[in-house]
Amino acid sequence: MKIAIIGAGNVGGALAQRWVKAGHTVLVGAKFPLSDKHIQLATIIGEDRFTTVLSAVQQCEVVLIATPPMAIFEVITEMGDVSGKIIIDATNTVRQKPTPYDTVFHALADKTPAKVVKCFNSTGFENILNPVYNGRGIDMFMAGDSDPAKSVAHQLALDAGFGACMDFGKSDKVALLEQFALSWINLAIIQGHGRNMAFVVVRR
Ligand SMILES: NC(=O)c1ccc[n+]([C@@H]2O[C@H](COP(=O)([O-])OP(=O)(O)OC[C@H]3O[C@@H](n4cnc5c(N)ncnc54)[C@H](OP(=O)(O)O)[C@@H]3O)[C@@H](O)[C@H]2O)c1
Repeated sequence: MKIAIIGAGNVGGALAQRWVKAGHTVLVGAKFPLSDKHIQLATIIGEDRFTTVLSAVQQCEVVLIATPPMAIFEVITEMGDVSGKIIIDATNTVRQKPTPYDTVFHALADKTPAKVVKCFNSTGFENILNPVYNGRGIDMFMAGDSDPAKSVAHQLALDAGFGACMDFGKSDKVALLEQFALSWINLAIIQGHGRNMAFVVVRR
């Protein structure tokens, strides 16, 4: 797949590395593509992958949003026409909501014609960079109303090394999926269990 990554920080950088390794064509869309901030990632995935947000999005069928939530209105403007594209929202509204919306997913669903899915938000970026614990991939989760978008997120989760990508429900479960992410943050950071922990679903 051709994937535009908007937000080349912890999460975007980790998924860029995983998807390049899996053989996908990854472009990173940034406000300042040649910024010093991108040197470390550029040495791993190649500096020719960095371009503007508009250029990356227009060349790709799939777009990952991994920016601070409040940047979403600027990003929507920067992306240009996203008709027919699949947008994966990996953000969490931890501190400030993108008012008047509760989440970035809801802003994207309302303000763009793209097919939107929430995914890759429910664990720490270290677990995205290396999702394997004790020889098996940890679980990822996705929510939204678009089946084609979910199908793409599911495949990209497996390609990134996750063991499974469980359907968390439709768009009415997006806020719950953010709360689920906050549960990981609570355990890992606030309760002090450390970031080297992850969620897996076990079945009888
Ligand atoms: N950190 C985690 O473990 C984790 C896990 C799951 C989900 N999340 C969520 O994922 C999102 C990103 O987190 P992160 O830790 O990866 O943040 P981060 O390291 O701060 O990276 C955010 C990136 O977004 C870029 N950005 C900001 N405004 C932009 C714009 N208008 N256009 C293009 N790029 C823009 C920033 O570029 P500049 O530096 O140039 O501003 C930066 O590269 C957040 O919503 C967070 O809640 C984080």
